[in-house]
Amino acid sequence: MKRSILIHPDPRLKKICTEVPDLSDELRTLADDMLETMYAAPGIGLAAPQIGILDRLIVLDCVKEEDGPARPLAMFNPKIIASSDEENVYEEGCLSIPDQYAEVTRPKMVQVEWVDRDGKIQTEEFDGLWATCVQHEIDHLDGKLFIDYLKPLKRQMITRKMQKLKRERARG
Ligand code: NI
Repeated sequence: MKRSILIHPDPRLKKICTEVPDLSDELRTLADDMLETMYAAPGIGLAAPQIGILDRLIVLDCVKEEDGPARPLAMFNPKIIASSDEENVYEEGCLSIPDQYAEVTRPKMVQVEWVDRDGKIQTEEFDGLWATCVQHEIDHLDGKLFIDYLKPLKRQMITRKMQKLKRERARG
């Protein structure tokens, strides 16, 4: 089932999310819903707080359509356990901040540990767009948005645009 995505500013996007306990069918369904919502948007990553659920759960798939089969990943309790000194700059966007993009510098490579949908612990090293995306999504679980990396003036400008967008949407 597709869920609706919260738009910044929203207090739920600023919260620290809680670790999920043992996996349940309910949590697996939530992950499936998030993947469906992400693909429909379309986007390459989505974190649970973006649909108003304050659990440590993210989904992502950074395979470009022309590059091969999809690789939907659902990560429960994801943690960055190592990151490279080398950095990378990507123009980032966010489904909670539609149509706004800005360059963000982050470690080029990260090693991530997470619990998969079968309850198994997985560890993998991510590079390039995957590395940026997984860091962006894990940030969401700590109430952090990509615009928090920007200079205050630019961040305020984007926030004002989003407030306007929300007012327009509320009016219908
Ligand atoms: Ni985002």
